[in-house]
Amino acid sequence: MRFVFPLFLIFFLAHAQTPYEKGKELYMQKGCYSCHGNNLEGLHRYPKLANRAKGFLSYKLNRFRDKISDNQQQEMMIAFAVGLSDTDIDALTSYMQEYVEEKKGKRYDTSFSLEGDGGS
Ligand code: HEC
Repeated sequence: MRFVFPLFLIFFLAHAQTPYEKGKELYMQKGCYSCHGNNLEGLHRYPKLANRAKGFLSYKLNRFRDKISDNQQQEMMIAFAVGLSDTDIDALTSYMQEYVEEKKGKRYDTSFSLEGDGGS
């Protein structure tokens, strides 16, 4: 019996995730990055999510989950929000609000601009 508790503790600690880590995992798992970007930077009509207020972001996600959208553009978010639990939303919004850019592993050039260079 003396061995069980420390073992349990080690197991628990090894699996404990901060909301930030959990949010990051969900962000990748649920495909949010495909529209909002690997660095939460947004891309044309897909809003930037990095370092924005948690309260606002959860308000929006809760609305999308309740299938409420203010315009046609927002309707595509509903499909991605319906499957989220309260804990998921909490983790995702913590991740977004506290987001710190990781320099390693950048997969594309975020300075890319759609404005042409004169057609060359
Ligand atoms: C298919 C593209 C797409 C995917 C995938 C996607 N989103 Fe969105 N997201 C949008 C669009 C479009 C909007 C609404 C933009 C607008 O209001 O005009 C939006 C809005 C939001 C907003 C509100 C931001 C604001 O400024 O109003 C949040 C928060 C958000 N998305 C989080 C997520 C999360 C979390 C995921 C993954 C579970 C996700 N999105 C996946 C396209 C996407």
